[in-house]
Amino acid sequence: MKPGMSLIKHYLQFKDFRAEEYAYLFERAAIIKRRFKNYEKYQPLIDRTLAMIFEKASTRTRVSFEAGMYQLGGTVLNLTTGDTQLGRAEPVEDSARVISRMVDIVMIRTYEQAKLEAFAANSRVPVINGLTNEYHPCQILADVFTFIEHRGSIAGKVVAWVGDGNNMANTWLQAADILGFTLHVSTPGGYEIDPVVAGVANKDCVRTFNHPLEACAGAHLVTTDVWTSMGYEEENEARMKAFVDWCVDADMMAAARPDALFMHCLPAHRGEEVEAEVIDGPQSVVWDEAENRMHVQKALMEYLLLGRIG
Ligand code: CP
Ligand code: NVA
Repeated sequence: MKPGMSLIKHYLQFKDFRAEEYAYLFERAAIIKRRFKNYEKYQPLIDRTLAMIFEKASTRTRVSFEAGMYQLGGTVLNLTTGDTQLGRAEPVEDSARVISRMVDIVMIRTYEQAKLEAFAANSRVPVINGLTNEYHPCQILADVFTFIEHRGSIAGKVVAWVGDGNNMANTWLQAADILGFTLHVSTPGGYEIDPVVAGVANKDCVRTFNHPLEACAGAHLVTTDVWTSMGYEEENEARMKAFVDWCVDADMMAAARPDALFMHCLPAHRGEEVEAEVIDGPQSVVWDEAENRMHVQKALMEYLLLGRIG
């Protein structure tokens, strides 16, 4: 091993894992979920501590990691920028050196991916991306798991992304490349996915469409996200105008396959990126998707801390 290289496994973006590791994680998540539903105690992480660092708001990420870690027998620290020295400009590298001497695993939600990477580079323990401006890998882990639960393997399928070329879109693109499905993308002009940021050179896994209805044609899954992500609030007025035609409605769902699913990472804005009749309709699996955050992240923490089981 070269000096400075780390043996610690982190989860900083979706492409950090191979397809074969995802197959393992989805199997483990299904087992862990089944045990949870049967009220079977499963506590392999007794005496392990998760530190969660939130620089942006959260409901699902906070609850799913916190409840999940307690269920696995561990404990959790919830840190926010405002009540740590991170909010008073202590270097992220120093924070990483200190925090990672006292806990076993760290989850971070922050702005720039570079900050997460600087933390990971100085951490003695695994670091998980709980959302950055660029990526949201835990969400796509849950989304693909949810697709598999409802429809089987996602390989060879078509996923339609309608909306902003944001952290979710970048991560869907990485997933398409690794897991072998096609991403149909329709974004307003000026809000396209940047392939350099997404970090996907393979052009075969993506097709772009000017009109969102065309992107949805023949899709097995239609998915979208807010028009304005956290950290971009000052662009809100311009975005409200630019995205007005990128609202997933009944016509778009009708253009998809009859058995197409609808997903949204949440929080959602009914009447903006999705009509209420779609997100609250029979094809929507958004509540399963939210719940599955917890099950897949339990499998992820188990994998990062204990390796493969069995
Ligand atoms: N989907 C998601 O990450 O939700 P939160 O922002 O509530 O964590
Ligand atoms: N793209 C959204 C996802 C929220 C879970 C954001 O970054 O705000």
